[in-house]
Amino acid sequence: MKALVLSGGAGTRLRPFSYSMPKQLIPIANKPVLEHVLENVAALGVTEIGVIVGDWGDEIEEAIGDGFRFGCRITYIPQEKPLGLAHCVALARPFLGDDDFVMYLGDNMLPDGIQDIADEFAAHRPAAQVVVHKVPDPTAFGVAELDENGAVRRLVEKPKEPRSDLALIGVYFFTPAIHEAVDSIAPSARGELEITDAIQWLVSSGADVRASEYDGYWKDTGRVDDVLACNHKLLDDRAPGVFGDVDGSSELIGQVTVEVGARVVRSRIEGPAVIGAGSLVEDSQVGPYTAIGRRCTLRATRLADSIVMDDASISKVPGLHGSLIGRSAVIGPSEHEDSHHRLVVGDHTRIEVAA
Ligand code: TTP
Repeated sequence: MKALVLSGGAGTRLRPFSYSMPKQLIPIANKPVLEHVLENVAALGVTEIGVIVGDWGDEIEEAIGDGFRFGCRITYIPQEKPLGLAHCVALARPFLGDDDFVMYLGDNMLPDGIQDIADEFAAHRPAAQVVVHKVPDPTAFGVAELDENGAVRRLVEKPKEPRSDLALIGVYFFTPAIHEAVDSIAPSARGELEITDAIQWLVSSGADVRASEYDGYWKDTGRVDDVLACNHKLLDDRAPGVFGDVDGSSELIGQVTVEVGARVVRSRIEGPAVIGAGSLVEDSQVGPYTAIGRRCTLRATRLADSIVMDDASISKVPGLHGSLIGRSAVIGPSEHEDSHHRLVVGDHTRIEVAA
């Protein structure tokens, strides 16, 4: 079996970050989403992975490499425009050949793994096996209607009146039967080749399409709040360890990781939290549920439930919470007049200040 990981897309919901980086490289518990995804795929024993990339292809390739460290071989497949999930399958046809494959959206996190679903697919080998998850409000998702044996009867994209609460999540298993389906559909109203249309084509032509219900933790990291929620979950499950320097006046509470070369000085770190390699935390309070990236500087700051990306620096900010701070961002007191806030803020940035 091969794997196709989709790591192109526009990422409009993750602006402003997606202006300067691919959303699949946003760190969760100090590791890019895409690395979590590739580890999950490699854990299935898949050794040939095709990765669809868009405008950020070079940056993704530089960060991820040839797959050696995941124990697999990665083939990058450029997509000129995000023309839909089924378009990705069509583009990858030369790579996929006539092999079965798992298609995995590069921004979806399933930290509990997908081995059981892969086993189910291998045992029955239906033309397509979708993965569904019960959600409270299915109207924002592709929704699967199943018969009593778990076979898919119908797929409806973002139904106004959903007839099931089973949302399709970003993992699909296919036999080569999907290729005829992809070749037979037309772009949807939003101009994309939809994978739900291709799977519905299989259902309508009488093919065996099954659904597995996944009841582990799942998050589509397409929005800032989802990124933070997922960070929360992954930090919770992380083993602690101190590989950097913590001075005698600092206190570490609970699951805290201090990575190599990081320094904690006169500070209190409340886990779950991770302080990235080469970062300095001084006279500060950090955590819980906070991941500080590499080479960051925090001085006289209080920060919780947040992600700070590499090379950012924050000083004298006493109450940050639920924040996502981009790479090399600088946050601190005004160099001019003490009574003023001065903001140099990119497009589509969100800043919330305490009233
Ligand atoms: P989405 O999150 O559905 O789309 P998007 O990345 O364009 O995001 P937004 O809605 O915020 O603008 O895509 C799911 C995953 O599939 C994501 O990792 C990007 C990837 N993708 C492609 O690689 N090619 C495509 O044509 C599309 C639509 C998505």
